[in-house]
Amino acid sequence: MTTTPTVLITGCDIGIGREFARQYHADGWSVIATFRDLANAGDLAEGMGRFQLDVTEPAQFEALKKNIGDTPIDLLVSNAGIGLDIRKLGDLDYDYVRRMLEVNTVGPLRLVDTFRDNVAASRHRRIVAVTSRMGSIALNLSGGHYGYRSSKAGLNAIMHSLAIDLFPRGITVVMIHPGWVDTAGGGAEQAAVPVEESVASMRKFVSRLGSHETGQLFDYKGIPLPW
Ligand SMILES: NC(=O)c1ccc[n+]([C@@H]2O[C@H](COP(=O)([O-])OP(=O)(O)OC[C@H]3O[C@@H](n4cnc5c(N)ncnc54)[C@H](OP(=O)(O)O)[C@@H]3O)[C@@H](O)[C@H]2O)c1
Repeated sequence: MTTTPTVLITGCDIGIGREFARQYHADGWSVIATFRDLANAGDLAEGMGRFQLDVTEPAQFEALKKNIGDTPIDLLVSNAGIGLDIRKLGDLDYDYVRRMLEVNTVGPLRLVDTFRDNVAASRHRRIVAVTSRMGSIALNLSGGHYGYRSSKAGLNAIMHSLAIDLFPRGITVVMIHPGWVDTAGGGAEQAAVPVEESVASMRKFVSRLGSHETGQLFDYKGIPLPW
């Protein structure tokens, strides 16, 4: 008997997270869509589980865990994120740098820590962190963006450790750079990749992931990227 797989996605208010929810729902998955502000659920609500989850709020993780209990989660997508920081040396906004670390780095760790048993109880057992090539030190040829780069490099370090720690439970963890995507976060006008295309490509890659790929960094087409 095949059961409908379940995906939990953070940051479905707009952008890449919302498109992930739409596509998985259209594909027949059971979708647990989470929103920084549940009021943003809007027309995405129909037929999906929708929940409040600001990834900087520990109490909201506890409430969501209580709500979904032991439901198996085949795919956990850590998508919620903020950036870019465009301020220069001498004019840095340190509160925003700290906020980026809270949202982009600490939030995803808490997400996996909270729901790892749900993932372990599922059939597919996959975790995807939407990261950025801006977090790659090897690919950093233009400097700046201190907060965003470090938040995504930190995210990659955390996910790599999680891949090692969760390997014995059969869980595969990967980090994916979605491309430069035409969302509000990507700067909709100049971005090269339509959000529908980025998400479809990431989904295709994730559907054929093998456990030997755990702990690695890829772009949205499944091409490995350097750290
Ligand atoms: N677009 C690109 O070119 C690009 C490139 C590389 C990496 N990424 C990464 O892709 C992911 C999605 O980005 P995007 O382009 O879709 O950006 P976006 O359009 O700005 O969407 C970001 C999403 O994260 C949510 N969010 C922000 N703070 C949150 C919090 N504290 N708790 C829960 N959700 C929160 C936002 O909700 P609200 O809008 O309601 O705040 C929104 O749903 C991010 O991790 C980003 O770093 C994007």
